[in-house]
Amino acid sequence: MDISSILQGGYQHPLSRSWQGRRTLTKSMLMYPIFITDDPDARVEIKSLPGQCRWGVNKLEEFLGPLVKKGLKSVILFGVPLKCNKDEKGTPADDPEGPVILAIKKLRTLYPDLYIACDVCLCEYTSHGHCGFLNPDGTIDIEPSVTRIAQVALSYAKAGAHCVAPSDMMDGRIKAIKRALIDGGYGNRCTLMSYSAKFASALYGPFRDAAGSAPAFGDRKCYQLPPAAKGLARRAITRDVNEGADIIMVKPSLPYLDIIADAAELAPDHPLACYQVSGEYAMVCAGAAAGVYDLRVMAFETVESMVRAGATLILTYFTPQFLDWLEA
Ligand code: PBG
Ligand code: ZN
Repeated sequence: MDISSILQGGYQHPLSRSWQGRRTLTKSMLMYPIFITDDPDARVEIKSLPGQCRWGVNKLEEFLGPLVKKGLKSVILFGVPLKCNKDEKGTPADDPEGPVILAIKKLRTLYPDLYIACDVCLCEYTSHGHCGFLNPDGTIDIEPSVTRIAQVALSYAKAGAHCVAPSDMMDGRIKAIKRALIDGGYGNRCTLMSYSAKFASALYGPFRDAAGSAPAFGDRKCYQLPPAAKGLARRAITRDVNEGADIIMVKPSLPYLDIIADAAELAPDHPLACYQVSGEYAMVCAGAAAGVYDLRVMAFETVESMVRAGATLILTYFTPQFLDWLEA
């Protein structure tokens, strides 16, 4: 055998195998997406997302306390208003008595070291379920959408969010939000994480179910990216860097690892997030339940592929399990 043919000598031991990645997954790389609803005492299981619930503000301590003890470092909040009056402008999005703002304040008090990000979008709060304002013909009315989204982001920053993360995909919103944060005195107090390359994906189904945010008509294909659009994704990443994003995100993750690698190359000086979305989580769980693979092994394989592609931050519903798995 030729000397150069032998690779196995380099990874014959668990420890030498652990040295083969450029970076290893740690607890601080995980951000846990959680759903906050407007019944303060709620704890309602979400059928399509095994093990995940909608939580009321009064239940956050029993829910997150044990996870913070295990090393949970950050969460991203999604509002799930059930009792509010949704309208064309998404007025309930920054209701000071709404679930997101109440949850930010509660979590800041309960866990001073927990990093709190907030998803910013209008679809959970608009009567039509779209992520921005609509023209009479059903197309997006960009300018007022962006103005409103910036206003909502500033409200979350004022309530104490460490990070605002717009998922709406309206053109120009990163610049508008950054401007609003700076003018509002939060330029140095709140991080702006952009869902830059967010694709129109079939993998958001369980989330829309959980958040009640499916569009009442049509789809999101005129603002979320077409799955084949590598060029648009690259342009969106570069644009958002130039508009002032502090963190770039790619979403979903597993079918878009090439885009994660592109983002690592296009924005090498920014943290890079990816979102292992609801349908990806449900898919891994369903495969494990069907006996196709072991849940833990598969969960690690998916998330490690994202780290390998270049992600430095991973939003995943597996966070609670990883806090246990990374203990050993
Ligand atoms: C809302 C939003 C969605 C997700 C995050 N923010 C759904 C969508 O765009 O339809 C998806 C997250 C997930 O599937 O876990 N703009
Ligand atoms: Zn939306």
